Amino acid sequence: MRAKRTSLVHLIYFSRLALSSDVQIRAGQVGEITRHAQKKNEFSVITSFLLVEQTFAAQVIEGERTSVHETFNRILADDRHRDVQICEWREITKREFVNSCRSSIRSPTNDVHFAKANLMPMFQRGTPRASAIHALSLALQTEEMSKQGIDHLFI
Ligand SMILES: Cc1cc2nc3c(=O)[nH]c(=O)nc-3n(C[C@H](O)[C@H](O)[C@H](O)COP(=O)(O)O)c2cc1C
Repeated sequence: MRAKRTSLVHLIYFSRLALSSDVQIRAGQVGEITRHAQKKNEFSVITSFLLVEQTFAAQVIEGERTSVHETFNRILADDRHRDVQICEWREITKREFVNSCRSSIRSPTNDVHFAKANLMPMFQRGTPRASAIHALSLALQTEEMSKQGIDHLFI
């Protein structure tokens, strides 16, 4: 009998970062979180994208159900953020993110995408739409890849 296909899910959450208020120090801290997450996620075959806007973070995590569950449990227990809330957790048919962990902090170079997504009022109300977080993450990934000249691979 053929083995049961493992199920692929994505989880989208948001949280409030408890990092430095200094923009540069915070960027370094987000960089550290991202580098460590890259290694852990590679091991767990997780792909993900982390967004940071002011003190809010939002992340899309894709992978096999058990791996996503284990990864999220570690993320939940991390005191570098608080008020972690799931926006969406569901089965998906394919992965949409190509890296184990990429992060993007709102800055003048990517402002156009963050402005279009307009997540800030939703974060402040505590009701960010999963589809808005997902679409912004994809737009930032596409832009990053086209800068590297590899966008044609994913059309
Ligand atoms: C905003 C945020 C996002 C994170 N994303 C991930 C992630 O995608 N994968 C991961 O393994 N850890 C992630 N972490 C780190 C975990 O919370 C945890 O510190 C880490 O997995 C523990 O690694 P260790 O077992 O090597 O100490 C994140 C932490 C924060 C604050």
